[in-house]
Amino acid sequence: MKNYRIAVIPGDNIGPELMKAALAVLEATQKVDGGFTLEFETCLAGAAHYTEHGTAMSDEAIAACRAAASVFKAPVGDPAVRTPEGIEAGLLGGVLRTGLDLYANVRPVKLYPGTPTPLHGYQPGGIDYVIIRENTEGLYASRGKGVGGPNAMADTMIVTRAGTERVVRFAFEAAKKRNGAPADGVRRVTCVEKSNVLRSFALFREIFLEIAGEYPGVEAETIYPDAAAQALVMNPAHYDVLVMENLLGDILSDLGGGTIGGLGMCPGGNIGDQYAYFEPVHGSAPDIAGLDIANPASQILAGAMMLDHIGEESAARRIESALWLALEEGELSIDERGRANRGTMSAAEAVIARL
Ligand code: IPM
Ligand code: MN
Repeated sequence: MKNYRIAVIPGDNIGPELMKAALAVLEATQKVDGGFTLEFETCLAGAAHYTEHGTAMSDEAIAACRAAASVFKAPVGDPAVRTPEGIEAGLLGGVLRTGLDLYANVRPVKLYPGTPTPLHGYQPGGIDYVIIRENTEGLYASRGKGVGGPNAMADTMIVTRAGTERVVRFAFEAAKKRNGAPADGVRRVTCVEKSNVLRSFALFREIFLEIAGEYPGVEAETIYPDAAAQALVMNPAHYDVLVMENLLGDILSDLGGGTIGGLGMCPGGNIGDQYAYFEPVHGSAPDIAGLDIANPASQILAGAMMLDHIGEESAARRIESALWLALEEGELSIDERGRANRGTMSAAEAVIARL
């Protein structure tokens, strides 16, 4: 029987509550599946770790993540914990995303039943696309490195040929494995870029169009980000896979979350050729920490993405189906603010009962 060692980062604020709920779902899934075992190793990291030790994550914890079969992470950070330069301390983007070269940030946006979408006329599954956010360059290549002084600051956006090629290929490969857009069943990759204004985006677009030529079975199109913000609200069923620069992906993935019942429904995978980690798209929500009302769906779905990535696809589908059923049967009800009405842990129990 296969055994996978998973590095677990419980994170800050609502992080540990979400992690407890999601680990209960993973434990139960492994029992029902019977074909593999999971062994969890806790790695402390985040804002609380920064306050205590002066770094977001220790070298030992990073080494544990490298040695593990995969990494399962809850939200980290706290708006109140900042570096002397004024940016949030305790975030792991630098050490994990850049450090482990996890160039594809995979963010599915899917409408589940029983979730309070502000859009009208969409059935469950009627919105089902995935944003592939470039995760190692773009404007965030300047993470913590902005230059200037008290009256002017500059952050530089970096777009490289190699960095763009690999993430665009990843997007087309993802489209090949999916069933196409909900509106028309067409496999489609949409490149979001502002090439009407910035040369870095012109390069991104040029490379996208070159690589699109290698995938005749997948439709390719481009759209400007301002137009994309409108289209993802007015016509989301047209979209299947979208690929874009780092900051654009950060913004549009939250917009997508707003159309499917909130970020509490949004998992993400940070994937490279050697390593990967899985987490909710949202932050650590200090305002609702400890109240047992955070929606654990994002963390549970991130767990399913992790299982899919390590090769346990049927266990991953089992979790997604159980969550779908729990929502459909009203056992895991999400209110209009995106919170789990009946509590974080009882939401997890509702999923476990349907595995
Ligand atoms: C995300 C988050 C992070 C990011 C922050 C917390 C640094 O917003 O994962 O989307 O900007 O990448
Ligand atoms: Mn974000």
